[in-house]
Amino acid sequence: MTDVVTMDKIVALCKRRGFIFPSSEIYGGVGSTYDYGHYGVLLKTNVKNEWWRAMVGERDDVVALDSAIIQHPKVWEASGHLAGFTDPLVDCRTCKLRFRADHIDVSACGKKPSKHPGEHSECDLTEARDFNLMFETTVGPVKEEGATVYLRPETAQGIFINFKNVLQFSRKKPPFGIAQVGKSFRNEITPGNFVFRTREFEQMEMEFFVPPAEAERWFAYWLAERERWYTELGIRPDHLRMRAHDADELSHYSSGTSDVEYRFPIGWSELEGIANRGDFDLKAHAEHARDKLEYVDTASGERYVPHVIEPAAGADRATLAFLVDAYDEEELENETRTVLRLHPRLAPVKVAVLPLVKKDGQPEVAKELYADLRRRMQAEYDEGGSIGKRYRRQDEIGTPWGVTVDHQTLEDRTVTLRDRDSLAQERFPIDALGDELERRLRAAWTSPKLAA
Ligand code: GAP
Repeated sequence: MTDVVTMDKIVALCKRRGFIFPSSEIYGGVGSTYDYGHYGVLLKTNVKNEWWRAMVGERDDVVALDSAIIQHPKVWEASGHLAGFTDPLVDCRTCKLRFRADHIDVSACGKKPSKHPGEHSECDLTEARDFNLMFETTVGPVKEEGATVYLRPETAQGIFINFKNVLQFSRKKPPFGIAQVGKSFRNEITPGNFVFRTREFEQMEMEFFVPPAEAERWFAYWLAERERWYTELGIRPDHLRMRAHDADELSHYSSGTSDVEYRFPIGWSELEGIANRGDFDLKAHAEHARDKLEYVDTASGERYVPHVIEPAAGADRATLAFLVDAYDEEELENETRTVLRLHPRLAPVKVAVLPLVKKDGQPEVAKELYADLRRRMQAEYDEGGSIGKRYRRQDEIGTPWGVTVDHQTLEDRTVTLRDRDSLAQERFPIDALGDELERRLRAAWTSPKLAA
């Protein structure tokens, strides 16, 4: 089927319905920084909750962590970020724009009609120089006397420096993992494409510590697991692929990385990276902290530095992918219906309760039902405007079910249950509704866009 989605449509829908909007707008905005509104918060929270469920809730071998954003500066020395977390930066002396030297062929020159930097006769590009992506700040009241620290550019290092603590308190032995969700910061030279690349974003990372001989097997295992997570949450399999990094793309710590890529409207792009980090991080921190970061088997006396398999995802990028994959339009009663065909578990609101008219006792029954349902799931009550308009509003935010209370409800305690995707409407006993919706929320789901 032809996909009607474009990045502009997603940006417009997100602004119109208050999912995501430019930050600091009343001051003219700060480039590539976004705020999440009500439905955006609910959606991204659902994405993170599904990640926690898959990583920790449904497993016995992964524990949770929430480490600090500001860590000892030596962390970044040991990790290699101070020396090597750089992008090659090129300035144009004429238009004062900055570009990533390795992205020149996809960057836009400031001088029209030329396309790429360097193509216009007035372009005056500097040589590429390394630009460290970490944000610096100072700890202490006096800037000059304070210590320079960095906002973490990844959540992963907070996990490595806590390896010993977790090993001690969690009673785990390799293979086991530590999972963390939180904000990371990168002073990207060219952020862009909405929340795809921003300077402040949330990561969902898990470091899985394994006996060295098992690293390859676990690497393959996590590739399959992560692919499954996205498709079970409704991402169409033909819009998802795994791409192994070539040797010259590998990060300094990695002996093998595969990206989970999604077919965004901007083309196939990284959604998540899965890396075999070997023993690089634990050894580096052990050396810099003059400590031992290893596993000792008390029964056999065997000791070794575990190898690490890391599935590293972005919560904002995943949220964007789910939005893009769900976006659909269809002609209905001479109007275009915009609908987000989100997996019900990801949908910001699960059910909308709507009295058909604002009289005859219908609002009272509807409010009673709403009070019951919202104890079980995210629900919304709406009595404003025509029923058609209210359905459209819910379609646009991806609410899978609409429940209408009408005159028949007052006679036989049944309601109309409307399905967002098929538009089927059925009469349903009001007292069985909560259980039925909970059952549907637990059920397997595939995108109706697949069948179209
Ligand atoms: N610890 C490994 C690591 O951080 P990464 O590939 O640099 O690996 C992991 O980042 C994920 O974090 C990416 O796949 C992406 O989803 C997300 N991410 C990275 N930089 C981002 C940015 N500037 N804006 C939004 N998400 C970003």
